[in-house]
Amino acid sequence: MPSHTWLDGKHVVGIVDNQFGDAGKGKFVNWLTDWADVTVRGTGGANAGHTVSIGGRKYFLHLVPSGITHDDPSKVHIIGHGVVLDPKCLIDELELLRADGVSWNNLRISHRASLVLPYHVLEDRLRERAASGSKIGTTGRGIGPAYQDIVGRLAITANDLLNPDILAAKVRRAVAAKIPLLQGYDQVDIHEIMLGLNGGKYYRPGKIFNVDEMITDLRLCGQQLSDMICDTDLLVQEAMKSRQRILLEGAQGFFLSYLYGTYPYVTSSDCSIQGLAAGAGLTMRDVDDVLGITKAPYMTRVGRGPFPTEMGGQKSSDWCDTSTQTSELPFARKATFESDDEFMLGMAIRMKGGEYGTTTGRARRVGWLDLPLLRRAMKVNGPNLALTLMDVLDECPVIRICTAHTYTGSKIRWGGQVIDGGHVLNVAIPETSVLERCTPVYQEFPGWLSSTSDARRQSDLPDKLWDIVRFVEEQTSGRVRFVSVGPDRDQTVSI
Ligand code: IMP
Ligand code: MG
Repeated sequence: MPSHTWLDGKHVVGIVDNQFGDAGKGKFVNWLTDWADVTVRGTGGANAGHTVSIGGRKYFLHLVPSGITHDDPSKVHIIGHGVVLDPKCLIDELELLRADGVSWNNLRISHRASLVLPYHVLEDRLRERAASGSKIGTTGRGIGPAYQDIVGRLAITANDLLNPDILAAKVRRAVAAKIPLLQGYDQVDIHEIMLGLNGGKYYRPGKIFNVDEMITDLRLCGQQLSDMICDTDLLVQEAMKSRQRILLEGAQGFFLSYLYGTYPYVTSSDCSIQGLAAGAGLTMRDVDDVLGITKAPYMTRVGRGPFPTEMGGQKSSDWCDTSTQTSELPFARKATFESDDEFMLGMAIRMKGGEYGTTTGRARRVGWLDLPLLRRAMKVNGPNLALTLMDVLDECPVIRICTAHTYTGSKIRWGGQVIDGGHVLNVAIPETSVLERCTPVYQEFPGWLSSTSDARRQSDLPDKLWDIVRFVEEQTSGRVRFVSVGPDRDQTVSI
């Protein structure tokens, strides 16, 4: 991957996703880990999924910062206090890495990171089952309930793993608080979910939880992780003082932020640069610059929630709810880039781009690049963009980019604005009831119809692709720093 003048003189750089996640942060994080002395994750948990390829071997990481695979003993990798940590999941990930000869001597875990425990996973899955029509489409990893327990003053932290007696007392207290809340759910659902969790190990019929078993395992986890648990905020702040280079590794995407996203169809952390900096132990003043990873000229969303440019609309959203890569294989012939049916075109893009979730295997919903949404994200994440996955549309004859939204619902008030049907919005209103009733205004572009995967310099990019890059810059007042034309680090054009 080429060096870039954009990094000159910078010490703290954040990589965030300007869309709904999966825009391809991993590749840039992996590259910038070469540059950085310290890499920090600050938000999310095992809901995140990164596929990192090295030496033909693929690693699926959820919690461990993706730079760990560099295996460079001089670099430090940190799981910051804003992350919710499933200790069992982390240990499993570390064991897989060890089996491949990747060491993690320099992994540090914030003592203030809150734990995701079996009752969080149970609550997450129960709520989704009970919600049926209004479910969020979560990853089922217990993320929402774990974050809720932080503000609900019931959280158990990584630090508690270092103190077995405190740990046991807190787990007992938390379980006692959960039981009455769980009585309202379908007991058959509880039975099924608990049996499926860790082979039913933490299930005790009638009492729901086998608390003793949970505590025993957590103590074991504590022994395994204890050398890594420390005050990482202090580590990060000291690294900053000594002018080390710090990379903040984002998770999920701007519109999944519970503060800025398409609420309630969001995750439970703030996936913007602000949430990332805070969760890593820094403030926005400490961040020198931000790179907003942006899929173009298509984008994706996984799980439920509004997505105005979705190809195939509701049909696509229903389809993706239950489809996986294997279940789509029989449609490979019909799903082509020439298809007039946008649902099939969306499927063609999904197949070409391998758009299936790393964590859940679900088919990702596919739509056209939405500039009103992007403009909204850039208000917080800033002007620097990396446009990714562009090679996926190499064979696409017609490309559409959404330049505005037309609101089609009845009169609604949004802050100080009154929005009537027919109102045109240049910056998206990230309010589900509005976005659900927005239709995209499109500008059409001819496809470039040539392979871009070997492009390394600006002059290697087809003119028609370049027109789109310039159009995105003009329309967002942004600055495209990189165009990514393939999963490999070299398949990147610096601009
Ligand atoms: P949760 O984070 O599991 O609670 O899920 C909430 C929403 O965020 C769902 O729509 C998920 O599909 C979505 N989500 C969570 N993590 C990711 C991710 O890493 N990539 C894309 N979507 C995600
Ligand atoms: Mg991912």
